[in-house]
Amino acid sequence: MSNVAAGITGIFGWVPEYRLTNDELSTMVDTNDEWIMQRIGIKERRILKGEGKATSYMGAEAVKGLLKKTGTDPEEIELIICATITPDMSFPSTANLISYKAGLKNAWGFDIAAACSGFLFALQTATQFIKSGAHKKVILVGADMMSSITDYTDRTTCPLFGDAAAAVLIEAVDEGLGLQDSILEVDGGGAEYLHMKAGGSLNPASHETVDKRQHYVFQEGKAVFKVAVKKMADVSVEVMERNNIKPDELDWLVPHQANMRIIEAVAKRMEIRKDQVMINIEKYGNTTAATIPLCLWEYESKLKKGDKIILAAFGGGFTWASIYLKWAYDGDKAE
Ligand code: UT7
Repeated sequence: MSNVAAGITGIFGWVPEYRLTNDELSTMVDTNDEWIMQRIGIKERRILKGEGKATSYMGAEAVKGLLKKTGTDPEEIELIICATITPDMSFPSTANLISYKAGLKNAWGFDIAAACSGFLFALQTATQFIKSGAHKKVILVGADMMSSITDYTDRTTCPLFGDAAAAVLIEAVDEGLGLQDSILEVDGGGAEYLHMKAGGSLNPASHETVDKRQHYVFQEGKAVFKVAVKKMADVSVEVMERNNIKPDELDWLVPHQANMRIIEAVAKRMEIRKDQVMINIEKYGNTTAATIPLCLWEYESKLKKGDKIILAAFGGGFTWASIYLKWAYDGDKAE
């Protein structure tokens, strides 16, 4: 492996127009704005509507926006990785479809399924292709159409999720910038608490699986909550310690946006202030692989070259990760 540093050099987010508010959800299941705001912290989430539109549509919109914004010729992209658990279909991969729709004629690609940690697993993967010298320009997309696997008769899960996509360009960056350190972990023992029961090779789709509503997210919320706080905080604190980052030296924590109470608990364990944390859960909810790049996109104008940033996620499977990076460009000059 060479000493080339790899990092994010551009970012673009895309969200559908339709806003599913807590008030509208209250007409669908027995819930209310007060409970959702207190227990989760979400006000509304975006929902993708329209025939023929799915995850690859959102991903392609994000990629096209990214190419335009960064002035990149689509034919320069050599690899596209899509982090998603809501692929348009089992195969071909969503990366394949996005690549076609965005005109990436010279790229190969594949999907990564790590649920809410998907963007971080894919970021670690994507940067290796730059560091090794194999590729010069890689696009990474975090995209999920969670509304396609959300049971809108289950009040314990339906307030949580929304649809979105965000794409980042990964290239070689100035020495000392970009990805610095990472911890990525999986524990398949956690699958029983957060999974989708049917549609895979274990329980292929049948009348019975549909009747039993097994093609939706299944979650034991309380069990997941506890592990999410512990694991996200454990790896983030470890990354801080081994890179000698004191709490007040950290510029930003970018946490996966699953629950405001989880975000606050992780920030507390890291001993950082709320104004060091990127938060947009109130507007979009949990968009799975899209939450972290969507936050970075919204906060981009505040980011400065050299900013110390920790990305942290926890998701179904279980999967969890923390990545430390030094931001590679001044965000206010990006538009
Ligand atoms: O991103 C991947 C990882 N996922 C997560 O990180 C999610 C982790 N889990 C959570 O965020 C939370 O556990 C939930 C938001 C899913 C649930 O919050 P909670 O504080 O753990 O609530 P609970 O499940 O213990 O339910 C408390 C009460 C129950 O009523 P009783 O039994 O106390 O009478 C529920 O029936 O709240 C009730 N409840 C609701 N009430 C109004 C559950 N959902 C709702 C609802 N509206 N939507």
